[in-house]
Amino acid sequence: MKVAVLGSNGQLANDVVRAFADNGDDVLPLTHADIEIADRESVANKLRELQPGIIVNTVAMHHVENCELQPEKAFAINALGARNLAVVARELGAVLMHVSTDYVFDGSKGSPYEEEDPPRPLSVYGNTKLAGEYFVRSTLDKHFVLRTSAIYGKNPCRAKGGLNFIQLMLKLARERGEVRVVDSEFVTPTATPELARQMVVLSRCESYGLYHATAEGSCSWYEFAREIFTLTNTKVNLKVAGPNEFPAKVPRPRYSVLENRALKSHGLNMFEPWEVGLRKYLQQEAEISREVQ
Ligand SMILES: NC(=O)c1ccc[n+]([C@@H]2O[C@H](COP(=O)([O-])OP(=O)(O)OC[C@H]3O[C@@H](n4cnc5c(N)ncnc54)[C@H](OP(=O)(O)O)[C@@H]3O)[C@@H](O)[C@H]2O)c1
Repeated sequence: MKVAVLGSNGQLANDVVRAFADNGDDVLPLTHADIEIADRESVANKLRELQPGIIVNTVAMHHVENCELQPEKAFAINALGARNLAVVARELGAVLMHVSTDYVFDGSKGSPYEEEDPPRPLSVYGNTKLAGEYFVRSTLDKHFVLRTSAIYGKNPCRAKGGLNFIQLMLKLARERGEVRVVDSEFVTPTATPELARQMVVLSRCESYGLYHATAEGSCSWYEFAREIFTLTNTKVNLKVAGPNEFPAKVPRPRYSVLENRALKSHGLNMFEPWEVGLRKYLQQEAEISREVQ
């Protein structure tokens, strides 16, 4: 199967490319230099040339503060970009697998969100991602829309740059000895190799639709940090940050835990508890640093 992966040098797509290649697929990695998803002509020309059977869209403008400052640009990429892909996928008879976010919810539910729960985004980012979902779902039958949460991987996130949360915690612990983290925001940290593996499995079935796709369980950012330090035997003074210590410039859902209800109902859920994904990530990082030494 020819699989076009958009945003191929991004955090998630790096593992998506590997997972489809390991599955024996003919992977066509596409970076921003190869295709501009906000531009209909660019999308049509590139995909008509490549004729993929599956199009995987990991592209997003997802720096939430930048989205507030540039809402038109965020809409052009997150919403119209998704529509451009869906229109061309329909023309080619291809499947579109589109990645979305837990930020389509406002976080007021207080228990894990299922696919049927009404979305209510709090930010430009969440609104434009939700619009992208609707464009895909209303344009193309052969779609998978996957909402995920708090992803981390070996490759850095291009939009946010620098370090992922795990690397940041370990760096702060090394440099300061004391780390303060909020315990009032709940997510499910999801390792990108686990999500990529799930995407390959889902792409082989015809149960098209909307899916929540995160690791199992949930934690606050404080609990995530505590597990990182426990698993790495890091000696650090970890404290709960005060309610106004890190004021958010843009409102974020305080509770955006997702339940993989649709995956489970199709017998397709491959996710393990988030702690397992974290342990595997840390083991892999430790192996790499041993090889480098
Ligand atoms: N990070 C999270 O915690 C999180 C949580 C939930 C959902 N998600 C979703 O997961 C997906 C993947 O996130 P990620 O962390 O892997 O992102 P990432 O590392 O920032 O990668 C995004 C990729 O998209 C490319 N791109 C940006 N604008 C583009 C455009 N207009 N046309 C074509 N390509 C463009 C980027 O290339 P350049 O950098 O060269 O522009 C980059 O390769 C996104 O859809 C995001 O909404 C992320």
